[in-house]
Amino acid sequence: MCGIVGYVGNRQAQDIIVEGLRKLEYRGYDSAGVATLLDGRTHVRRAVGKLSNLANLLKETPLVGTTGVGHTRWATHGRPSEENAHPHTADGVTVVHNGIIENHLALRDELRKAGRVFKSETDTEIFAHLVALESARGLSLADAVRAAAARVHGAFALVVMREDSPGVLVGVKVASPLVVGIGDDEAFLASDVPAILAHTRRVIFLEEGDMAVITPQKVTLTTLRGEPVDRPVRVIDWTPVMAEKGGHKHFMHKEIFEQPRAVADTLRGRVGREEGQVFLDGVKVEELKSIKRVVVLACGTSWHAGLVGKALIEQFAHVPVDVELASEFRYREPIVEPGTLALAISQSGETADTLAALKEARNLGARVMAICNVLGSAIAREAEKDLGVLYTHAGPEIGVASTKAFVTQIVALHLMALGMGRARGHLDAQAVRTELQALSRLPKLMESVLDDDAQIAAIARTMLGTRDTLFLGRGMCFPIALEGALKLKEISYIHAEGYAAGEMKHGPIALIEHDLPVICLVTQGNGYDKMLGNIQEVRARGGRVIAIATDGDKQIGSLAQDVIYIPQCPRFLEPALAALPCQLLAYHVADGRGTDVDQPRNLAKSVTVE
Ligand code: AGP
Repeated sequence: MCGIVGYVGNRQAQDIIVEGLRKLEYRGYDSAGVATLLDGRTHVRRAVGKLSNLANLLKETPLVGTTGVGHTRWATHGRPSEENAHPHTADGVTVVHNGIIENHLALRDELRKAGRVFKSETDTEIFAHLVALESARGLSLADAVRAAAARVHGAFALVVMREDSPGVLVGVKVASPLVVGIGDDEAFLASDVPAILAHTRRVIFLEEGDMAVITPQKVTLTTLRGEPVDRPVRVIDWTPVMAEKGGHKHFMHKEIFEQPRAVADTLRGRVGREEGQVFLDGVKVEELKSIKRVVVLACGTSWHAGLVGKALIEQFAHVPVDVELASEFRYREPIVEPGTLALAISQSGETADTLAALKEARNLGARVMAICNVLGSAIAREAEKDLGVLYTHAGPEIGVASTKAFVTQIVALHLMALGMGRARGHLDAQAVRTELQALSRLPKLMESVLDDDAQIAAIARTMLGTRDTLFLGRGMCFPIALEGALKLKEISYIHAEGYAAGEMKHGPIALIEHDLPVICLVTQGNGYDKMLGNIQEVRARGGRVIAIATDGDKQIGSLAQDVIYIPQCPRFLEPALAALPCQLLAYHVADGRGTDVDQPRNLAKSVTVE
């Protein structure tokens, strides 16, 4: 998973590219590089490690030129090193790449035999040589890229420039995201919108097999076969500041506090409280009437949202739901019966396992739909071919640990369940109106939980030396136990397990020992009485109970060492509210332990490779 930025215009490219890469660091960061064209020559700077290393190098030896490309890398082929860092060059051709060229070994062998000398271990460099060879035959840059792209298989978002074509960049999009930014007498190519938001909000999302040739004055879109294509120019309403940290120490903390707004934005325009109507814009709701079973396909946090969605859809639409790990679904022989809806849930819309599972489900005859946060992403476009996409309007989520995307996924699932239930006649207008009234109060209720940030930070400080933790929940809060454990482990590196509390007696209770922190989701609406029993079991074995409970609970104070309260609310809103203390606890533990909260080790924001 890498980040690409390209610029053509009348301003110096270097700083525009570096600032754009900074917005893409979440996509991977083991090395980075920039190249510009000046007087017919290519000038390259590359550095291993974080982008700041490259920025320091550029301070010492700046690049001049108004045509340039840049890249932050998350290694897939070739260890993190300067020689493997992008951009890669060959005979005046420069390439940056996100994805995997699957036939790179065969091509490397062929090119070596043709006398080509390689400077890196990467699959990307092969593409630079292919374009160089095609260029030597006199082809234009666009035609040389087209011919080279015909030779490679796999996933590749590429941006290419050539010394004899200043002011021209060529971008290719196959299975990895690439967007075009249209400015005034300047244009951009980038892996994701935040990289260019400071300069333009007019964006084109390239489709599978699209090629873009950009100059400061013109953007030409074709297929890789050269046929003209027409793609909509979308006006992105994310302001640059939304993609900044907004005064918070980390993107993750900012995004946790953005959740009330993100939920309000996700509800906006979709709630007809008076007439008890839900408006699922972008979704063919009528087609949901004939659905007999929903199969959720997702990974990680999005899979946890799917578990909450199961309860919501079964309750409000009365349709059975299976929640599948996409990475498992895609590799077994799944049985997909007529009337099945495959519902992909993905923040990035680019997760390879989820995309592949969705395509597999469609090939097996399922109807497809998605809940996504990124406009025009691969999963979104796959779903747009059938029942459509219900977008979460969480805005850019830069922190690798998903927070606002998760809560807005739950809200989107709630809306979908209500809309589906209404369309199928399982819910009447009054029932929908009641739920919508509750849902529209959620942003305010979330703010009251976020007000406890300092209390949660104090609890986190007592956990900094912890080696193991357990999260326990029941009913709709069982997925929140899983999510809380994932948040803690992925950013603080503390081993954490989430469990259905009823499972304690089937094994995990053996883990309870003196002072082991056990975060217990003991809210009023999801297994409260049974959770009190589990809390007693934990206490009897010396475990330390940190409870997430409901305001007004009179019993929990004497049972738990620490209590974080969420407001009283209908049980269906408890997951979204109980998730907030879990997120903040994980954040403050990680911050206290000094880990890289926004870019945890070994992780990337979106896993676009298998
Ligand atoms: C969540 O904190 C993780 N970063 C990860 O589990 C993530 O949810 C998963 O990779 C799925 O990503 P997606 O929602 O973009 O498909």
